[in-house]
Amino acid sequence: MKIGRVTISDRASAGVYADRSGPEIERVLSEVFGGGLTFVASIVPDEPDQIAAALRHLADREQCDVIVTTGGTGISARDLTPEATRAVLEKELPGFGELMRMQSHAKVRTAILSRATAGTRGRSLIVNLPGKPSAVRECLEILAPAIREGVAHLRGDEPHRQQAQQEQQ
Ligand code: MTE
Repeated sequence: MKIGRVTISDRASAGVYADRSGPEIERVLSEVFGGGLTFVASIVPDEPDQIAAALRHLADREQCDVIVTTGGTGISARDLTPEATRAVLEKELPGFGELMRMQSHAKVRTAILSRATAGTRGRSLIVNLPGKPSAVRECLEILAPAIREGVAHLRGDEPHRQQAQQEQQ
């Protein structure tokens, strides 16, 4: 599986502080999905045009199976990740954000301050996460089964789909 990861932060992209959330995406996905993953890393400021360009590049050029963003999902003036993501999505998957907010809320009461969304562009599954490294871990662990299944659907992985259907029956 090829994974694109995008850290979205004015300060991390300017080198004011180190990006700890992007590497955490790699750590968690490697733990959850095991080996065989390749990563393409990028970091951009909270500028919608730059966010959208990074997502288009990772989907259209790099052909990533999954693109995970971290940061910019809140309600501050510069938090524009969901808007920039929607601008490039072909199909939105609101359930990803709903599930991560609902399940995170039991542990972190501020979880509903994230407007994170997800969706598809071509054969890429794009998923927003909040910016904190702890939130990256919490949310990715919640979403991992749906990410795995979503990638199989986008690849048209029919045997995998049939097996999933049988498991549900
Ligand atoms: N979700 C989880 N699981 N854990 C967290 O610590 N932090 C919340 C929320 N979602 C958090 C979380 C907070 S404090 C904010 S402001 C929003 O995510 C938005 O974060 P962002 O602007 O860095 O994306």
